[in-house]
Amino acid sequence: MKKVITYGTFDCLHEGHRRLLERAKALGDWLIVGVTSDDYDRTRGKINAAQSLMERVEAVKGVGLADEIIVEEYEGQKIDDIRRLGVDVFTVGSDWVGKFDYLREWCEVVYLPRTQGVSSSEIRGVRRGVRLGIFGTGVVADKYRKEVEWVNGMSVGGQCAEFEAGVESLAGTCDAVYVVSHPRRHAADVRSALEAGMHVLCESPVALSGKDFRDLVSLAAERRLVLMDAIKTAYATAYNRMLLVVKSGKIGRVVSVDATCTSLMPPWQNPKDLEESWNSRQAWAPAALLTVFQLLGTHWERVRRKSFFAEGAEDFDLFTKYDFEYEGAVASVKVGKGVKSEGELVVSGTDGYIYVPSPWWKTDYFEERHEKAEENRRFFYQLDGEGIRAQLVAFSRAIATGRGPGNVTEAESEVIAELVK
Ligand code: CTP
Repeated sequence: MKKVITYGTFDCLHEGHRRLLERAKALGDWLIVGVTSDDYDRTRGKINAAQSLMERVEAVKGVGLADEIIVEEYEGQKIDDIRRLGVDVFTVGSDWVGKFDYLREWCEVVYLPRTQGVSSSEIRGVRRGVRLGIFGTGVVADKYRKEVEWVNGMSVGGQCAEFEAGVESLAGTCDAVYVVSHPRRHAADVRSALEAGMHVLCESPVALSGKDFRDLVSLAAERRLVLMDAIKTAYATAYNRMLLVVKSGKIGRVVSVDATCTSLMPPWQNPKDLEESWNSRQAWAPAALLTVFQLLGTHWERVRRKSFFAEGAEDFDLFTKYDFEYEGAVASVKVGKGVKSEGELVVSGTDGYIYVPSPWWKTDYFEERHEKAEENRRFFYQLDGEGIRAQLVAFSRAIATGRGPGNVTEAESEVIAELVK
């Protein structure tokens, strides 16, 4: 029996996929189809499949040509599959010519002509193209601009600096906007954007009081628009796996969370120069506070805050430390733009601890450590685009489905707004 294997994402299954499967089947007697998992797709840069892995597998099954369906999860799996399953022919469309010649060591490789005029990207684009406006300038705005290119079905509809025009000026060419103006203006800018009919992804803190944040949430709900808090860390795979390791009890009961984030800003001459900069709380506290809340919740018994301010700039904290007391646990958050420290995260439990090395907020790696070193475990997950890419995908899904991704809850954003003010 001649075995044939082919791989693909098979998102929004179309005529091109059907024809490819027909011709693949005709190359032998038994057809194996490898459907890429959501995680693997992401690592190849091909993100934002409109359908989940299960839906895509069902669609391939529905064509009725596959004798066996497997999931492709890791780099190098093709070689494993070919050897393990005794495959005679590997085939894919001509868009991959040359790319899989290395498999000739194990089987025959056939590139089939691609069907013209149809692709998943196009179908996705028609279904839910999001034109994203960027409101604000600077390094972070540039990063978002670049990351949009990686997200299928999303394009940049315009960019505007906060001192040039109001955010509503983007409404003509954009369905949604990423707001990265000064935090002092966020609430007003988000309000204008929602009133102009755009979905909003806003750099954290979204507002500088819990009440202002709640008002914006109500406005978004009234207008049936998405409002998302743009804390990048919440979209890093490693960060989310770390939360799961803790929640599954691997380090016992959590007793202490210590998160530090610092970055020294360039020297300044005049306190006035600081007016347009984000202070330490605004720049760093949201990600660190979020981590505390996602591990210990938002119902603390007491919180104390101590800040050291720049001379002559009374709201500009060079360093702030938050101390939380929970029933049975404590947490500390240290943030600074005028003080340098080790940017690590330590979650201490009764059976062990989690160590996330600096810069933990851009994490792709963490360790679970125990009294006995042989029980220690290390975890690594690729982080693409500092989490921005995955966040944009989540934003575009939220727009399509009307449901937020839940990586940052409204309750969490609300207390962040309150604590950062
Ligand atoms: N394919 C094809 N003809 C098309 C589209 C896809 O023969 N018009 C083939 C691809 O070459 C590949 C398989 O179908 O072997 C699965 O393709 P996949 O990448 O899942 O689909 P695309 O439509 O190419 O997706 P995208 O637009 O996201 O690149």
